Amino acid sequence: MRYLITSALPYINGMKHLGNLVGSMLPADVYARFLRSEGEEVLLICATDEHGTPAEIAALEAGLDVADYCERQHRLQADVYRRFGLSFDHFGRTSAPQNHEVTQRFYLALERNGFIEEKQLLQCYSPDDGRFLPDRYVIGTCPRCGYNAARGDQCENCTCLLEPTELVGPRSAVSGSTVIEFRATDHLFLDLEVLSGRVRSWVESHPEWPRLTTSIALKWLDEGLKNRCITRDLTWGVRVPRPGFQDKVFYVWFDAPIGYVGATKEWSDLRPSDRDWPRWWLDADDVYYVQFMAKDNLPFHTVFWPASILGTGEPWTLPSYIKGFNWLTYYGGKFSTSQKRGVFMDKALEILPPDYWRYFLMAHAPETDDSDFTWELFAATINKDLVGNFGNFVNRTLKLIESRVGRRIPVGGAPGDREARLTGECSEVLGECRQQLRAMEFRKAVSTLRRLWSLGNVYVDERAPWKLLKEDPEQASIVLRTAVNLARVFAVAAWPFIPFTAEAVFEALHLEPEERTAHPSDPRLLTRLGGKRPFDVPPLLFRRIEETEIARLREEYGG
Ligand code: 2FM
Ligand code: ZN
Repeated sequence: MRYLITSALPYINGMKHLGNLVGSMLPADVYARFLRSEGEEVLLICATDEHGTPAEIAALEAGLDVADYCERQHRLQADVYRRFGLSFDHFGRTSAPQNHEVTQRFYLALERNGFIEEKQLLQCYSPDDGRFLPDRYVIGTCPRCGYNAARGDQCENCTCLLEPTELVGPRSAVSGSTVIEFRATDHLFLDLEVLSGRVRSWVESHPEWPRLTTSIALKWLDEGLKNRCITRDLTWGVRVPRPGFQDKVFYVWFDAPIGYVGATKEWSDLRPSDRDWPRWWLDADDVYYVQFMAKDNLPFHTVFWPASILGTGEPWTLPSYIKGFNWLTYYGGKFSTSQKRGVFMDKALEILPPDYWRYFLMAHAPETDDSDFTWELFAATINKDLVGNFGNFVNRTLKLIESRVGRRIPVGGAPGDREARLTGECSEVLGECRQQLRAMEFRKAVSTLRRLWSLGNVYVDERAPWKLLKEDPEQASIVLRTAVNLARVFAVAAWPFIPFTAEAVFEALHLEPEERTAHPSDPRLLTRLGGKRPFDVPPLLFRRIEETEIARLREEYGG
């Protein structure tokens, strides 16, 4: 099997926050790194999701042409993801020509197969703005509760669903103009009523999916699908290849998931001689395709997008497994891009290096339930696990060797019973961690990783090499050599989660590429390194987060 892995495509507007990161991009990266370290062939794809009204409005606010705005935002996002160590094989754009081309191809196949219906709709038009307004860009007074800033699709105050025609005193959210007309305009609908049976059979053929994924898919299917409008009266988007539709574009959720294919094609077009996008996407029987996303994206990925794929009648790769996440909250409330509440990715890196965040987020990934970010929990997690457990082990053992015997890995004699038991324990725990990562059980995998690290600290405490150095140098040599080997195994196991730190350890131990992986059943798991090989002591791997700092961060970011 080859592994195709995609993360939900982040919207172009605005810097993403830690909730966005943990809900899709980070677990996709951890999983991809893990599989690569197992020697699997992996393609990890992501992109910015660039079309739709929010991008147009954000560009307007920034005083930029929408294409320029997207270009700039794409660069900012790509840069921060790189600095977080997200190892995308390609980070593309849904506005790229490749995505336009594939989206139109999808549409034409759906049209040919009779799954497209044309209907006329009444849409809000603002003559002052010179454009149609999507429902939620029409604001007015709620007819139910009298709230004066209800949106045309829903009143935020009483949560009732609305039609823009129901608003009292409607006005444009773009300019505030109160001249709102309702104009008849033609639109295209995807025939989900007819396709829903095929989607259901497909969902039901995957009993192994996580409960969250299946329950959301079945909820939509059980409630009955209505045909969905896939066109919009906008200019920024993918053109609709149909006579009479030259002034319209596809709805952003029609072209966004096709962006996974488009971005793969971008990747392939960069080096066509040795990359072949259809090998991943068409008739690709040996591809295991895993998607990562937050739960609000599940309906689109379990129902609407598969419906488009199935409707084409073409052999596109369907997801093999869909991993959904619950919410990461910030002090019990929502992270919010619009309200700037919570920690955003660029700011996070000004506070601490990426591995601190990566570790915390995966240790508390909202897998089975929502989980909550607080500065207190963040500091406690880092101080206990990264500083007190992993960092402490590596730094104290390597420093001890350096100060007492020099920067060479001790030769040491044959391992004794205690070392044999330790090797058995490490193999077992390492094997467990691998299984959990294969199963994408990230929190469990992190807790297993912690158990692995603890084995090292317990061993070193018990064997007290600082005493042995005086009393029994031969035994000391075995223990210290074992400790260096443990450091290697710990860093290898940690690499998918905290790659920067793991690589610092790899460098310090002067590891060859083939020494940067570890197999649980390796009989030399804890004796591989030795024989006076040189090493360096890495700089302190992690630093404590102090009380005063927590207080300051809580103050600055709200709590
Ligand atoms: O929720 C979001 O951030 C969307 N931009 C996800 C799109 S996923 C895919 F379909 F493109
Ligand atoms: Zn209301």
